Amino acid sequence: MSKPLGVWHETTLHQQTIYQTTTVVGLKRNIDDVHGAASAVPAPKQTSRPSFIAPRGPPRLTASTIKCTRDAPLGPSEYSQRKEFASTPRCTQDASLSLSHPVYGLPRQLVANFSKLGIQSIYPWQKHCLLGPGILKGEKNLVYSAPTGGGKSLVADVLMLKQVLADRDAKAMLVLPYVALVQEKVRWLRNMVEGISREALGQGLKDDNKTWARRSDRDTVRVVGFFGGSKVKPTWHDFDIGICTIEKANALVNAAIDDCSITRLKIVVLDELHMIDDDYRGYLLELMATKLLCLSQPVQVVGMSATLTNINLLKTWLQGHSYETHYRPIPIEEHLVYDGKIFPADTTTQLLRAANEQLKSGLQNTQSQTQSQVLPVRVVEPSAHKEYKDPVLNAVVALATETARSGYGALVFAGSRAGCESDALLISRAMPTLNEADPVIQEKRLDLLGDLRSLATGLDRILEQTVPCGVGFHHAGLTTEERDLIAYAYDAGVLKICVATASLAAGINLPARRVILHNARMGRDLVGPSLLRQMRGRAGRKGKDEVGETYLCCQRKDLESVVDLMHADLPQISSCLISDKRRVQRAILEVIAIRLATSRESLDEYISKTMLSYSAESDSIQENVRASLEDLQYMGFVTVDNFSNYQVTRLGKAIVASAFDPEDGVFIHNEMKRALQAFVMDGEMHVLYNFTPVYDLGGTQINWRVFWNEMEQFDESGLRVMSLLGLKPTQISKMLHGGSLRETTPEEKDISRRYHRFYLALQLRDLCNEMPIHRVAQKYDTPRGSVQNLAQTCQGFAAGMIKFCEHMGWSAMGAALDHFSDRLKAGARADLLALAKITFVKSRTARVFWDNGFKTVAAVANADPRELVPVLMQAQPTKIRLEAKDEKRYEDKLFAKAKVISESANRLWQLEMQQEHDFDEE
Ligand SMILES: Nc1ncnc2c1ncn2[C@@H]1O[C@H](COP(=O)(O)OP(=O)(O)OP(=O)(O)O)[C@@H](O)[C@H]1O
Ligand SMILES: [Mg+2]
Repeated sequence: MSKPLGVWHETTLHQQTIYQTTTVVGLKRNIDDVHGAASAVPAPKQTSRPSFIAPRGPPRLTASTIKCTRDAPLGPSEYSQRKEFASTPRCTQDASLSLSHPVYGLPRQLVANFSKLGIQSIYPWQKHCLLGPGILKGEKNLVYSAPTGGGKSLVADVLMLKQVLADRDAKAMLVLPYVALVQEKVRWLRNMVEGISREALGQGLKDDNKTWARRSDRDTVRVVGFFGGSKVKPTWHDFDIGICTIEKANALVNAAIDDCSITRLKIVVLDELHMIDDDYRGYLLELMATKLLCLSQPVQVVGMSATLTNINLLKTWLQGHSYETHYRPIPIEEHLVYDGKIFPADTTTQLLRAANEQLKSGLQNTQSQTQSQVLPVRVVEPSAHKEYKDPVLNAVVALATETARSGYGALVFAGSRAGCESDALLISRAMPTLNEADPVIQEKRLDLLGDLRSLATGLDRILEQTVPCGVGFHHAGLTTEERDLIAYAYDAGVLKICVATASLAAGINLPARRVILHNARMGRDLVGPSLLRQMRGRAGRKGKDEVGETYLCCQRKDLESVVDLMHADLPQISSCLISDKRRVQRAILEVIAIRLATSRESLDEYISKTMLSYSAESDSIQENVRASLEDLQYMGFVTVDNFSNYQVTRLGKAIVASAFDPEDGVFIHNEMKRALQAFVMDGEMHVLYNFTPVYDLGGTQINWRVFWNEMEQFDESGLRVMSLLGLKPTQISKMLHGGSLRETTPEEKDISRRYHRFYLALQLRDLCNEMPIHRVAQKYDTPRGSVQNLAQTCQGFAAGMIKFCEHMGWSAMGAALDHFSDRLKAGARADLLALAKITFVKSRTARVFWDNGFKTVAAVANADPRELVPVLMQAQPTKIRLEAKDEKRYEDKLFAKAKVISESANRLWQLEMQQEHDFDEE
């Protein structure tokens, strides 16, 4: 077997389990068949938890000590940082700093909720921002910038809540760039609206006489998150505040303009607005906001970021007010570390000069006079351990463990997934062992290990070693559940150190007293100034910690570029719409398809409202628009009617309605045309291939040996699919022997995409045949996070494909795909998904509930919580037991859990009954 490509590692689950290999994809099965098939993997039957001893890890190491070189440290001390925060005026000094002040007009319950979440008084800048002319009334757009952790979200939260509480039909949308941020924000806003009743606000329903037919959540403010992996299909009816990723937001706005329901949208918040500059997805943000600016009805657009330099450009574009502040509730103490010496960040330029002079005069090994002028504040002693020989790593370990030993959290940023894991291991070896930790923390760490072990993917072998010592890692190679558990445990102080990639860099609120950067790299490259600022901005977040420090640890050879980076100005934000001609094509195609602009004049007007038109030459924009319109006609997406208006063709409409990128749309169209000519239905591969998402196929790494092996096992039907797609065994064999896929001509690019898509389709086939994610990941040499992403996005993509067929008038194909999409759901174990909505009943626990006869929410709801205790006992993972004495305590704990489960199931069951009523009514 060739060398593994991706990052994957073993988990505690055994590899020997045999999974079904015959297809279940093309066959209709009833739920019991599904159950039967799944029980090929027998659930371990046990009535009590067996104990086992933790695996012996490598020997413990000692972190180097860090010595002070002066009597008093330079820069802000912990005391001065606290003092600065304490000097911020509160509502006792200025009554309008309280959200209960009449000027904000917020309901009492909402103010109480803010207070419960730690916000008793707003900052003066937040007040000025909110009280800008026309802002609270929603009449004026707003763009503002404040440092990381400066409290930007609160301003936007107040504005959104104000709008949706003023009118029960009003909708608000919050757009965030990352799924982790969407999830965090959903939790936060749900807490914020808890207990707020529409009826209490005098917004009773018109159909009050039919209270029995009312949806039980109609009285509340509904906060819903929409992102790639989420199962929910976004419609305005389902939420009051929708929290979306950029792609989902754009699709939602397109659909709402098309069906005219957009009139309900009152406010759109664009958080992390600097993302507009992101070369990959930024243009979608710009497109979406431009559409809002073109609507005849007013929609308040609010944008914010910590890293905006040319805020005026954004202000002009959004035709609103702007506000800038440098206030940070917790000032951050910044440092540079190299060669084991810690310098305050503001002395780095002198330091660099000294280091250069030293080099020039050839005095590397002796103490130069100049260097003595820039004394480090502290020095990390070199380590005697060979594992910590590298001074950068040695400093990272010493700084991280020092923070943890004093009881606080440290967030370490590493440059790659592999770097995260090795740092976590090496740091954990210098941390106190589990037995040395506080008993309460010990218990919680064991619980965390148990929770991780009970996930479908099992417990990662590296986390198994690091978690007992209070260290975790977080990167996109882990599944979302693993990432959630790690972030949650770190937030709760169960883990003291979290090593992460840039996936935790923006927007997230975690308790990091120290942020430590191990080399400030992402992959091979140094990070940019914006990302650096975002990473450092995770330190000292109000409400999580009262003090913040950052340490950028670098190698000597990087010193010059790192010092430049530390002093670099943030780059100016600019539009990415024109950097690729396909983007203007998409911009135009979408507005023609949703009939926002169809004449050349209205299209020009639309383009004149983009941010691009405020920064680029108008001639080049015009030329781009002209060329794009020609291309769109050439590709058959739009036509011109007798009145010189542009009309979308069936294909163009199908692409926009399915939310495909036009280039992906062309690819899919070609693939579907092939499928229409010969759809292979005597096997599963062709169907699965058509359900395999085409986004970012280039990012898929193929292990050609695995590809070859799979192909060798194909029956005649599978081989026929490959030949129809133009995939050749000779090519795979060439690749196996070090060949490369040519991607020069469009045809070659298409062929390459097909190889990649097919490789993913093989993974999808195994997932549908109920092979667990971690096994698929191992088999295809892919990180399990990517396999999970495939499993989560394929259903949404399949729905897009079905829509695409409907719009193209390919109803037979649509119906066939629709039929098979059922199987896709079966692969995702639809039976267990219903149970998994119940609190605490996730993955393995859901399976154990099912196996014990609790197959529906109703069955769980109607059970006595005491009946659930033995089931829960069985579902508990094996766990390291400290002592056997606390069996009773353990049962009590499970009983408490059973009661929560029972309550949750009852709530869900009532909701189900209610919806059945609603359905009957309609
Ligand atoms: N007036 C306030 N009083 C107390 N805590 C506050 C106040 N405003 C914000 N906070 C808290 O400060 C922390 C950081 O706020 P927030 O997440 O809004 O920062 P941000 O400006 O969005 O930073 P970033 O640019 O990193 O996203 C949060 O925990 C938030 O609850
Ligand atoms: Mg933020």
